[in-house]
Amino acid sequence: MFPDRVKLVDVGPRDGLQNEKQMVDAAHKIDLVHRLQVAGLHEIEVTSFVSPKWVPQMSDSAQVMAGIRREPGVRYSVLTPNMKGLEAALSAPREQWPDEVVVFGAASEAFSQRNINCSVEESIERFRPVVAAAHAQGIKVRSAISCALGCPYQGEVTPDEVERLVVLMKGIGVDHCGVADTIGVGTPKRVQAAMERALKHYPIAEVSGHFHDTYGQALANIYACLEMGISNFDASIAGLGGCPYAKGATGNVATEDVVYLLNGLGIATGIDIELLVDAGAAISNVLGRPPVSRAAKAMLAKRA
Ligand code: HMG
Ligand code: MG
Repeated sequence: MFPDRVKLVDVGPRDGLQNEKQMVDAAHKIDLVHRLQVAGLHEIEVTSFVSPKWVPQMSDSAQVMAGIRREPGVRYSVLTPNMKGLEAALSAPREQWPDEVVVFGAASEAFSQRNINCSVEESIERFRPVVAAAHAQGIKVRSAISCALGCPYQGEVTPDEVERLVVLMKGIGVDHCGVADTIGVGTPKRVQAAMERALKHYPIAEVSGHFHDTYGQALANIYACLEMGISNFDASIAGLGGCPYAKGATGNVATEDVVYLLNGLGIATGIDIELLVDAGAAISNVLGRPPVSRAAKAMLAKRA
């Protein structure tokens, strides 16, 4: 029933640090990426090429991409909401290009307007050339179906609304479907209902879950996905994360907690949990607060 192996994308450098009030130096972001790859992460969402007026925390994206030491076998991704973002990501020397780009739409109209300043249909027209141009350069395209379990402005979001965006993303050739609970309101049965809609249109290897933990349901939601055989998840080191345009949403499920769960289930990740805890402790130290991850806190207390 469960997959033998799970692939985790650590979105901490992007989803995590985009939401911090204090500006984090590019050097610390680069160090975080290095620590994550040393811990065995094979997929890292490094930054986003978005408007610096909208998300100033990500305004050093080119510097961060230029500064990371690439490890063979690691896939580095960035968010690109439009051609301007993709062009900026590809204006660097080729060895600094992302291996994958993320187009992020929303299952609710209201969130699409607030987050990327356009309707769902308009967002698809912005993504269409991004997908084509990325593919022309051999770059994979992942989607985020934001607000798949609820919207801070609209309230409830139905599986039909999720499927509508999944179909639109598939129609423009997006390779991977990431179902995202942006505000962390989902519970296992509802998550399964949303995932079923994604699985109608994408193979299981190209469907992933991205869970924020506002109501403490993220691990239960991941477990519910594992029961369906889903083997790709986003998680964020130290439980960092949130979206500046999703008020009240807390961080993503912590990578340390997910790896602890998967280790316990005998599901391989290739990640060394001790080194992961080190990575989380280091960035938490930069931010001046302890990690949100329960597993990390327990392991750090045991070490002390
Ligand atoms: P817009 O204002 O509609 O864009 O914003 P525009 O094309 O009209 O351009 C306006 C200005 O932005 C111009 O500059 C453009 O050059 C500039 P000005 O002439 O005023 O100086 N611009 C850009 N600059 C840099 N990079 C770009 C870019 N595009 C335009 N790519 C836009 C549209 C999408 C740019 C804006 O709304 C934006 O940047 N939004 C960012 C939203 C964001 O990053 N949110 C957080 C990430 S999503 C998330 O966290 C959810 C996720 O984790 C999954 C989940 O949990 O659900 C992924
Ligand atoms: Mg998110």
